[in-house]
Amino acid sequence: MEIAPTIPNLENRRILLGVTGSIAAYKAADLASKLTQAGMQVDVILSAAARKFVTPLTFQSVTGRKAYTESDLWGEDAHVLHVGLVEGADAFMIAPATANTIAKLATGQAESLLTLTALAARCPLIVAPAMDVGMYENIATQENIKILHERGVFFAGPAEGRMASGLVGKGRMLEPTALIGVLRQVLGQGGSLDGRKIVVTAGGTHEPVDPVRVLANRSSGKQGFSLAQAAIDRGGSVVLIAGPVTLPTPVGVRRIDVTTAAEMFEATQESVENADVLLMAAAVADFRPGEIAKEKIKRKNDVPEITLERTDDILAAVSKLKAKSGRPRVIVGFAAESQKLIKNAQSKLEEKGLDLIIANDITAADAGFAVDTNRVTLIDREGGSEELPLMTKAAVAEEVLQKVVELLGAADDGS
Ligand code: CTP
Repeated sequence: MEIAPTIPNLENRRILLGVTGSIAAYKAADLASKLTQAGMQVDVILSAAARKFVTPLTFQSVTGRKAYTESDLWGEDAHVLHVGLVEGADAFMIAPATANTIAKLATGQAESLLTLTALAARCPLIVAPAMDVGMYENIATQENIKILHERGVFFAGPAEGRMASGLVGKGRMLEPTALIGVLRQVLGQGGSLDGRKIVVTAGGTHEPVDPVRVLANRSSGKQGFSLAQAAIDRGGSVVLIAGPVTLPTPVGVRRIDVTTAAEMFEATQESVENADVLLMAAAVADFRPGEIAKEKIKRKNDVPEITLERTDDILAAVSKLKAKSGRPRVIVGFAAESQKLIKNAQSKLEEKGLDLIIANDITAADAGFAVDTNRVTLIDREGGSEELPLMTKAAVAEEVLQKVVELLGAADDGS
């Protein structure tokens, strides 16, 4: 049986999860479970209204820790409880947060355990509104949100969609995975890539043959998307240039969708101008049809001969930019090889002027395209090489980013 992997920037950290009285409270149980699986200590506080929808036992069962309720406010340990709860907490997330709770937060009320704790907390506060569209759009709620926003409270959502009332509009609580994305971004702030701009390319490219057909490759984009997430976890400002893939965008990332190698070339050139790092994980087409047929090529016609032409090498062009302007400061390439892994990767590192190359044996089982795991070797320009065991693409991203932080530090010292 597989155990869900922990999330490095959440692991061993403590979160307070406030749950208030909305039907979305049932989703908070899933959120508490996912946070626990990510490696967090989750202390849940249920408002009196939340207890109408869910029970403390629900949360205790998924977190393995006591879930607190209003009765604890006046219990034996009450005099220290709210202080004890906030002490050492890394974040306080209120999900779902009703219009009523948001109003109380905006006016600094502290008559319940949940609001009292929110007032005492010194850690980042993340609020995930959940309410009917009319309540959300009401000027009173909007003003309360504005006040809290100005005070540095983070808002996650709400999303648009169908609500319990049957109305469709803005007011749905974000899904637990999206809320975890917001938490990762908030906790990433001030990390080792704080103030750095990271450009990541991901996925393959599609080179059109005619209006319906393309030349494509099997890249899933998973490694590139994991790199973008790992950069967010370290507080980086991330631009993700993605080929045609269907993966969800990590929260906090600015995504630019492209289709062809030429579009990826242009988007990358523009994005790296003021960037610190380029992580070129995309599987860019090396060749494209010299001519694109204007009409669909018909089956009954003669078998077509498609002449290919070379695409531009994006990395080679970016290293020329670096030689001229010093930007981006660190260039990382990937080498997908089916033979002579290390030798071919080293030549690519030199030919393309890279600081680091991630060599990837695409013939190895559980590595390469479309799977969740990868087996790679990191090779730097000083000749250092580190062979990593089979690991998840998220774990590979962690290793790569750790190395990138070192290379950036060295580039700072050298400049
Ligand atoms: N790459 C690029 N522009 C291209 C093709 C590839 O910037 N037109 C980048 C890839 O994103 C990757 C690195 O170059 O980071 C190596 O890609 P790879 O496909 O392994 O090598 P190629 O240079 O295409 O050489 P070959 O296909 O012959 O192995």
